[in-house]
Parts: sequence; structure tokens; C-alpha cells
Amino acid sequence: MGGYLPETIVTNDDFTKMVDTSDAWIIERTGIRQRHKVAPGQRTSDLAVEAARVALAAAGRTPEDVDMVIVATTTPDMPFPSTASIVQQKLGTRPCAAFDVQAVCSGFVYALTVADGFVARGIARCVLVIGAEAMSQLLDYTDRGTCILFGDGAGAVVLEPVEGEGTSADRGILGFDLQCDGSKMDLLYVDGGVFEDSNRIGKIRMQGNQVFKHAVHKISEAAENAVIKSNLSMADVDWFIPHQANQRILNGVADKLGLDRDKVISTVAMHANTSAASIPLAWYIGVQDGRVKPGDLVLIEALGGGLTWGAAAIRL
Ligand code: ACO
Repeated sequence: MGGYLPETIVTNDDFTKMVDTSDAWIIERTGIRQRHKVAPGQRTSDLAVEAARVALAAAGRTPEDVDMVIVATTTPDMPFPSTASIVQQKLGTRPCAAFDVQAVCSGFVYALTVADGFVARGIARCVLVIGAEAMSQLLDYTDRGTCILFGDGAGAVVLEPVEGEGTSADRGILGFDLQCDGSKMDLLYVDGGVFEDSNRIGKIRMQGNQVFKHAVHKISEAAENAVIKSNLSMADVDWFIPHQANQRILNGVADKLGLDRDKVISTVAMHANTSAASIPLAWYIGVQDGRVKPGDLVLIEALGGGLTWGAAAIRL
């Protein structure tokens, strides 16, 4: 695993200078205390490359070993080429498969599932899966309901087939559940894009309490499905590494699933919601501080714009 956070930190107090809010309100409703923000000129691909380098070093691999790059992002450097193409060039891998996955906050769950399929079928031998976001670029800094929620960062994982210890059937993704309900896209979207007359990228628009209402129910259902499909039970889960949207959602899902809160890896206070980057970043922190170890059963889940949502149970 690898992770990277840009140097600039934006505190809750910084937002009190922009909108009618307070540190106490933000902490009470979201658990967020601070978030990181890209420096001028720093792009999503730059965050992705930093996280990828850390992950490759941890895996004892070099860019030469990589045969597939998948970037989950909703803040690509540009409409095309894909951020994965740019990352491939900046990292200096050999020519190999490279593409983006766009499922907003659920992007990492989708991307990891895609990558796992390539590895399990023997098509790829060293896949870099990166979640990277510069959400600050999509924020309306006059909308207090959204601007306080998000942060920038990247997380990455190196995926390889298992050799000599167990079989591929008992490692990697054991069960997953991916979902989308496009009829609920109005709850969370960006009001711009290539078809906008004004030719602007747009900003995040969200019905926060509606998203909240769907989140706990849908995420819990997907997480249960992922564990059932793995022929395991919640009691087998060593670490719950959810998408880091809001501490109240994290607690609600953990309680609904009957998971001890000590098993929840939470970074929302320090990173805020980094969309597709939040799960690999939290996972990286869990590995770094010694909690998450080889052999552990990890349960990941996310919900985001689309609405998309999903979960996966993974044996490390
Ligand atoms: N500071 C102070 N007051 C605020 C702020 C703020 N930053 N933001 C909203 N309020 C106000 C609202 O204007 C409203 O005021 P009013 O009663 O005068 O109209 C009041 O707080 C209550 O608003 P609600 O939206 O009902 O507040 P809620 O308790 O639902 O909290 C929040 C809002 C934090 C956005 C919550 O709905 C939430 O976290 N939703 C999930 C959204 C989310 O995480 N989205 C990320 C992408 S999807 C995902 O990752 C799961």
C-alpha cells in the first residue's frame, strides 16, 4: 500500500472565513477536523504518482515490473487522456494497459474489483490500482453544505498473483457487490462538463441529508452481500475500512453490521472525504501503524455519486 497527501492543510477554522460555519458544527456533524489541498499547479496525476511510488517501494517492485495501471478518479487532470495514461508516463513504466475507472466515491471498490479479475485470470501480473482525487477543484466555496466535506489525496495498492502460499481462491477479493442507481443522480453531481454552454467544469451539488439517508442502508446491504458471497460471516472480519465520508455514516454502518468500532479504520478527521482515494489512504494508514497485516480479512465499502455503491471482502 502507498499513500500521499499534499502539504497544505485546511482547518475547519479556515472555512469560518469563507462561509457561515464553525469548527464545532463540522466536528459534530461530520467528525472532520482538517483536510489537505493541492498546491497551485499540482494535479491529480501528481498525487497518484507519489502514492504509487510508495506502494511500489513497499512491495519491492519498480515501475518496470508494472503491467497495468488503473486510476480511480472523478477529478482527472483533463477529459482525456486518462489520468492513468499520464501516471504511466510520469512513473516511467513500460508501455502497458492503463485506464481510469469513474465511479466517484465508489471508484476504488470498482477499480480493485476490476484489477482482481485481471490478476485472478492470469492476464496481469503486477497491477497498480490508485485512487487519486483533487476534490478541492470541484468545490463551491460559497456552499457550506459541501465545501467543508472534501479533501485531496491519493492511495495506491500493488496487486499480484499469490505464488507458493495458498491458492488464488483464498486470497484477494473473496466476494463483492457493486451497484448503481442512476435514477438518484440528482442527489449528488457536478453541474458542468463538456456539454456545458459556458464550457465550465462545474461544482459539486448535493442533497446531503438524502445522501446520508441512502448511505447507511445501501452500504450495509452491499457489505453483507460481499461477506455472504465470501462464505464468511461478519465475525471473520478483522478490519473494516470504509469510504471516509462522515464519522456518523461510519459509525452507523459499523453498528448495523454488528462490527466492533475498534475494527473500524477511520481517517475522516484528518483527511475528510477524499472520494476514490479515501479507502486506499485509510488502508495505507492501517498498514503503516501495524494494525492491518498479511492474512487479515478486510471489508471495504463505499457510496457516492451515481448513485454508485459497493463493497468487497478481501483476504490479504
Ligand atoms: N455549517 C453550519 N451549518 C450548516 C453547514 C455547515 N457547514 N452545512 C449545512 N448547515 C446547515 C444547513 O443549512 C441547515 O440549516 P437550516 O436548518 O437553517 O436550513 C442545517 O445545517 C441542517 O442541514 P442538514 O443538511 O439537514 O444537516 P445534516 O445533519 O444532514 O448534515 C451533512 C449535513 C454533514 C452534509 C450530512 O447531510 C452529510 O454528511 N451527508 C452525507 C453527504 C456526504 O457525505 N456526501 C459525500 C459524498 S457521498 C459519500 O461519500 C457517502
